[in-house]
Parts: sequence; structure tokens; C-alpha cells
Amino acid sequence: MYTLKKANTYIEENRERVIADYRNDYHLMAPIGWINDPNGFIYYKGEYHLFYQYYPYESVWGPMHWGHSKSKDLISWEAVPVALAPDQTYDKDGCFSGTAIEKDGKIYLMYTGHILGETEEDTRQVQCIAVSSDGINFEKVKQNPVITEADLPKNAKPQDFRDPKVIKKGDFYYSLIASKAEDGGGQILLYKSVDLLDWEFVSVMLKGTKDEGPMWECPDIFELDGKDVLLFSIDGLPKKDNNFLNTHSVLAITGKMNWENGIFEKETEEELDYGLDFYAPQTIEDDKNRRIMISWMQMWGRNIPTETKQHGWAGSMTLPRELFIKNKHVYQRPVSEIRNYYTNKQSYNTIKLSDEAKEFETLSAQVSAIELVIDVKSGKRLDLEVRSNVDEKTLLTYDCDTNILELNRINSGIKLIGKEEELVFKRSVYCEPDNNKIDLEIFLDRASIEVFVNQGKYTLTSTIYPTKKADNIKITAEGEVEIIRLDKWDIEV
Ligand code: FRU
Repeated sequence: MYTLKKANTYIEENRERVIADYRNDYHLMAPIGWINDPNGFIYYKGEYHLFYQYYPYESVWGPMHWGHSKSKDLISWEAVPVALAPDQTYDKDGCFSGTAIEKDGKIYLMYTGHILGETEEDTRQVQCIAVSSDGINFEKVKQNPVITEADLPKNAKPQDFRDPKVIKKGDFYYSLIASKAEDGGGQILLYKSVDLLDWEFVSVMLKGTKDEGPMWECPDIFELDGKDVLLFSIDGLPKKDNNFLNTHSVLAITGKMNWENGIFEKETEEELDYGLDFYAPQTIEDDKNRRIMISWMQMWGRNIPTETKQHGWAGSMTLPRELFIKNKHVYQRPVSEIRNYYTNKQSYNTIKLSDEAKEFETLSAQVSAIELVIDVKSGKRLDLEVRSNVDEKTLLTYDCDTNILELNRINSGIKLIGKEEELVFKRSVYCEPDNNKIDLEIFLDRASIEVFVNQGKYTLTSTIYPTKKADNIKITAEGEVEIIRLDKWDIEV
């Protein structure tokens, strides 16, 4: 039997056992054990709270709890007691992903209760509420579960019905819930309530075909820069050209949500991140009216070295990112608070490279931010090696003829092998220069790289596991490439 007390005692007694190699410095992780999706992201009484899918007892997925951390600035996080344990009949096999909203000064969590049956057919997923008036201690309400299979439309499977996101519009609360349709496609269901306890089915907000992935997960919706944006994550979206190469992918869809009839009209659709480790993002609007997103920086179905090496923990979140819309496209920028942790600035200006390589002997970048602006007008190709040593490197390549930026981790360190048919070790994105320039903002932590291209137009997020000290930087140009600016800071939290 899992309880909160058992989880919190276990964490207190065992957290010192965790092996620190590869633990990131400025990315959110659990003190010990496994994490996946961010949950219940909320700005509450002057602090950001982030919950997450959590199994404290091992560094593999298990019956899900909700771990909990809070922060004043989205960068420096404090772990607080576990918020939810699977301790009721309606959530006995896991408190799955969900959402948080403030009502009458209290935090209301809505999460999915996972109940395994004797057979897969008998499994059920239901929606439940837990409330807190201090932001730390949560009580599950007696009305639970508040949405069950009795509230499903005809075509929806009661076995796959999860990951509610609650928002408020006028007098109503709406909950978006991911569902699998009987015909084998994904869909998002919309429910409505006035008090967060009594819910009524409204509509199938958006429905996919079988080819658009068998299960959609973790939906989120918000209005930004005059557009409605829908994000969701897809288990098993088939690969299409250069997109969706991971086992799980995240889609950003812009369009128009009609709250009257509950239907989302889709205009554009694209993959949200072009790296190897990015899944299940959640967003909030904070007190500065910023739309901030945080995501799980890991991928289902691949080995995680901290687990295989028995370090006692697995999983990290991305750097929180602020979102913008320009020309119906979602841009991502690192939240500005990260700059408060920049130290040891080193700068280089105007270096012209002509078919040559430059190693920056005096630059060492491990837990760092790098800003690189290059002029590619007369160039053919640029290779940027980061986190490198004599044997290992993480490679970013910009091909000036095809305008393709590629991130390759084949030589980054420990091999990461997945369930994909072919080994997926690199990803790339088409990115035209802006006025002949490509600018890269690169965030390195002990086991991660996050690249923001051309003011956040595209991002590439991946884990990397160098096996020994790896902090060199090298730039190699084919043709003539001008480094207009190269700045590097260490990040100290
Ligand atoms: C997504 C997901 C969710 C589910 C949770 C379980 O990564 O599969 O759909 O609620 O993880 O941990």
C-alpha cells in the first residue's frame, strides 16, 4: 500500500544515496527516484509550483505519485513533500497526469485515477480532485471520482481517458481530457463545470484519424498573441519526412477555439521541438502575463543511463520557456530569470573563418549558456562542437546550402538506444537565415543541451551523457563563415 507518509519518509531516509554524476545544476529534478510529465503547473501566492509524475522508490516508472517542487523564479527549485500518493480505490494504480487551478484562494488539482483491471479491457481511468489551502498539503475530495466512464461520449474508450487540463473562461471551468476513440484514433474531450466538482460533457473538441497517432496525451490550451494554441503529446505518431522521429512527439496547433460549441478549428500544425528528449509540456500564465512552458526532458522507450548505472534517480525537466506567436508559429525563449545566474562572461567578436577550424582554448563550457551569431552568406557549412573532449563531442551543424540545422549526439558519450526501428541519434530542422544570420542560444547542463535558433523560432532539446570531463568548444567552417558574436557564461545556481 502506497501512502504519502511512506513516500516522504522513504525520500528523507534515502535521498543521500543518490549518485550526483549527471544530475543537472539548474534543471528541475526529483530528490530521488523516477519522474516523468510535469503536472499541475501553477503560479500561486507569489511562487511557482510544479508537480510531476513520480515514483520515489526506484529509477523506473511505477505506481505514480505527484512529486512537488516550488520556486520563486523558475530556476532555483525547492523540493517539498509529495502531494499525492495512489492510496484510494479510484487511483490505486497511479495518480496520473493533471492540472492545477486556483479557486477561492485554494489550489485545486485535477488528476487521473488509474485503476488496473484483471485484463487490459477492465482497466479504467477516471478524473479526481484534490484541494489544498496552504499549497503543500492536499486532500482528495469525497466526491471522487468526479468524471468517470458514465460521462464519456459513445465512441470513447474508458481505458484511455486521462491528463485533464482545467482552465477558466467567464463563469465556467473547462477541462480538456485526452481520450482514445473506439476507431483507434486520438481525441480531446471537453467538459464543463461551475464548481470544479460537478462536470458535464460538452464535446469532442478535436479528433484525429488513426494515422495521427493512437493516443493523444497531456492536452493544453491557451490564447496567445491573438491565436488559440493547442498543445498535446502523442504516443506513437508515425514518422513523417523529418518530423516525429522519436517514439513520442509533441504537436503545437494554432487555430480558433469556439467555446460556444466546443469545437477547435485547426489552422496550422507543427512539431514543437526538434530534439530527442522533449515530452508532455504544460503551460501557465504567470503574474507578469507571460505564457510559460515546462516539459519533461526525456523520452519514453530509451535507456536512461542514471537508471542502468543505478544512480538512484532518472529524469529532469527542461528550462522553463516563454512562448510567443509570430505568423501562426510558436516561438520559445528561455525565461529571462536564467540570466540572473550568469557569471564569468567571455566574449569573442568578429572572427572570420575560411575553411578552417578554431578551438577556443580559453573557453570551457559545461554548465553554461552560449550565444553565437554567425553570418552564413558566403559559407557552406559550420560545425559547432560542444561538451567535447578528445573522444566525445555533441555536434551542431548548419548547412548553408540546405538551411538545415542538425543536432547529433552519436558521439556525446553513453549510447542511448531506443525502441525505434533504426537508431535515432540526431534530429534537424529547416531554418532560413535571418538577414544572412543564424543565431543560436545554447544551454548546457551536466546531462543536457537545449538549443534555441533564431530568437526561439525552433528549439532542439536532448539529453547527453559524456563519460568524462567534456567542456571544450570548437568551430569548423567550410567556405567563409563569420562569427559576429560568441558569448559564453557559466550558470551558477
Ligand atoms: C505521458 C503519460 C500520461 C500519463 C502519465 C503516466 O507521458 O503517459 O498520459 O498520465 O504519463 O505516468
